[in-house]
Amino acid sequence: MRILLIGNGAREHVIAKSIIESTKNPELYSFISAKNPGIVRISREFSIGDICNVSKVVSYAIDRRIDFAVVGPEAPLKAGISDELEANGISCIGPGGMAAQLETDKSFARNLMEKYRIEGVPQFGIFDSKRDAVNFIKNFNGDFVIKPAGLTGGKGVKILGEHLKDLNEAKNYIEEIFDECVGSIRKVVIEEKLIGEEFTIQAFVDGKNVIGMPMVQDHKRAYEGDTGPNTGGMGSYSDSGYILPFLRKDDYENGIRIMKKAVDAVKKETGISYKGFLYGQFMATKEGVKVIEFNSRLGDPEAMNVISILQTDFVEICNNIIDGNLKDNIKFDKKATVCKYLVPEGYPDNPKSNSEISIDEREIGKIGGHVYYASVKEENGKILTSSSRAIGVVGIADSIFEAEEIVENSMDFIKGDLFHRGDIGTRGLVQKRIEHMRELRGH
Ligand code: GLY
Repeated sequence: MRILLIGNGAREHVIAKSIIESTKNPELYSFISAKNPGIVRISREFSIGDICNVSKVVSYAIDRRIDFAVVGPEAPLKAGISDELEANGISCIGPGGMAAQLETDKSFARNLMEKYRIEGVPQFGIFDSKRDAVNFIKNFNGDFVIKPAGLTGGKGVKILGEHLKDLNEAKNYIEEIFDECVGSIRKVVIEEKLIGEEFTIQAFVDGKNVIGMPMVQDHKRAYEGDTGPNTGGMGSYSDSGYILPFLRKDDYENGIRIMKKAVDAVKKETGISYKGFLYGQFMATKEGVKVIEFNSRLGDPEAMNVISILQTDFVEICNNIIDGNLKDNIKFDKKATVCKYLVPEGYPDNPKSNSEISIDEREIGKIGGHVYYASVKEENGKILTSSSRAIGVVGIADSIFEAEEIVENSMDFIKGDLFHRGDIGTRGLVQKRIEHMRELRGH
């Protein structure tokens, strides 16, 4: 069996590893935009090029007689990679462009939720005119969040009182979104600011069945104490079992129900079955679970938390997605996980790229750490940073705190102009979340 993986971050590295560990002995082919050393060394063959160049990727897949493809990031999905592969008889783990609008156009997702009466929608407005958007915020009762409708790599969402000091800064940001076409769609979604704790549920979807994975919490801010600019995610953790320590089983069940309704609604609205991974980002608030957004892929870093502890054969799951035959029998190790990203100094605003890093994977392995290469490239035997997140380090243990310790100990064996958040997964931070939810829920 020949499997093509599209994408070259740490999320794709963990996917690649789970593919080659399959008992079905598949051959891994990778289409990547930079030479990720972790992916390359386990691929039978790799091709470096633009992963959004649909015709190039599809020709490569046809040429190598690929059985099915797995798409990591959202950009190739938006470009229609899944549609084109399927049109050429190659199955794809990843939805077609219309279904992927759940992520690629935030206005589509909100309109869909409203039209099909899916619960968990915050108050929102969608605007394709600067003037109407500015009028909306002037009259908005309370704090709000401004989201460009298109893709911004997780860095486009700005919150009044956090990233935006006052109404004037909010107005300027709206103008920037329209003038510079931020996210490549001249449209903005403005929503009420949700108060609570964020969590992620990722799921395998076969068009009908939605099989959830353990809950994860990501940390978007660059610096400790959840301060600094937004990033793609600095690190994440999951607990042993499916539920995070500050959340409840019914939060998980509500999240899954919402995701199922979204998959059904996509089918009704577009006629297309959603197949692949679905990522629900939620806020547990005092009024219940609300949807922050959907993504049409696995999360990054959250994929590293869950795929690292997946017991069921990943390739078998992919086959079941393709056949529309997913069952609720997918198993994960009952372990807690912590993932932390090492990022270049200056990230995200002024990252130090092309800087050499060194990693002693053997020593890290000895203490139980796992290394996933992200936006780095291998050149003349050296590993160099780029402008984005560099290395994901994962610890797996009985508790979040033990997993965190493994990650921190692993950091001693990675050298370079990098930094990471020391606080993710520590007792102090987790306790803060527990108290926050207790205060919100009043018990
Ligand atoms: N961790 C955020 C994302 O994958 O979108």
